[in-house]
Amino acid sequence: MEATSEARAEATAHAPVAIRAENLTKEFKLAHHAYASLKGLFLSFLPKRVEHLVALRQVSFTIHRGETVGIIGQNGSGKSTLLGIIARVYRPTSGIIEINGRVAPLLELGAGFHPDLTGLENIYFNGVILGLTRKQVAERIDAIVQFAELEGYIDAPIRTYSSGMLMRLGFAVAAHVDADILLVDEVLAVGDARFQQKCYDKIRQFQREGRTILFVSHDMEAIQHVAQRVLWLDKGILRADGDARTVVQQYLESVQAVP
Ligand SMILES: Nc1ncnc2c1ncn2[C@@H]1O[C@H](COP(=O)(O)OP(=O)(O)OP(=O)(O)O)[C@@H](O)[C@H]1O
Ligand SMILES: [Mg+2]
Repeated sequence: MEATSEARAEATAHAPVAIRAENLTKEFKLAHHAYASLKGLFLSFLPKRVEHLVALRQVSFTIHRGETVGIIGQNGSGKSTLLGIIARVYRPTSGIIEINGRVAPLLELGAGFHPDLTGLENIYFNGVILGLTRKQVAERIDAIVQFAELEGYIDAPIRTYSSGMLMRLGFAVAAHVDADILLVDEVLAVGDARFQQKCYDKIRQFQREGRTILFVSHDMEAIQHVAQRVLWLDKGILRADGDARTVVQQYLESVQAVP
């Protein structure tokens, strides 16, 4: 029998901490360079105007091992920045991020892949980056290629891949590296219906195995289907953190309230 979301939340509340953020703030500095002209060359000796963009502002939460947490919010609200910090692509400007376990990030399409390497070479490259030995990658290569259903294309450079094919490769690698924490940023949307279903089945398997999943999406159906708990980011601020259905409802109401 499927556990209810309350029962699951109760069970995971006592599990060890997987990710903890305390007053997490990320500021990007955007330097406005002068123009590519003679005048620009002169201007480049003058102090540059630097714009500060706060992508995350004092964000705090705790995620326990085995939880699946959805992250929602409008474009530019800081969702990818948060996953980027957890994947250690970015360093926080201030605050604390604690991560317990190995992270498999599935961020933008093709992130971490080299366009001129073949699918197969990229599997090795990525598998090793994600913490496997070459021997471990070799043992899993068939399973990864089969899962991705890219048998006919695996020796082609991935710059020739379609977005769906890149997603298949990325998901297949992330799903086979024994990660404790899986980060999924929106990418599933480019898969066809059948492959998406296959990814959701794999995510269910991860949930049964007690792994931790962070899932960013603009698809509110998918979010509620996958996650018991949702974080809502609004211009870098954590607006809500709670039961998936409730937070999605609050978010949709706020979107509809905008004239
Ligand atoms: N590498 C970067 N350098 C400078 N600014 C950045 C960088 N990455 C993100 N930002 C800025 O940080 C803010 C948050 O961006 P982020 O990509 O985290 O949003 P998001 O919630 O993932 O949006 P979307 O729904 O469009 O994917 C945006 O204003 C964006 O311009
Ligand atoms: Mg994003």
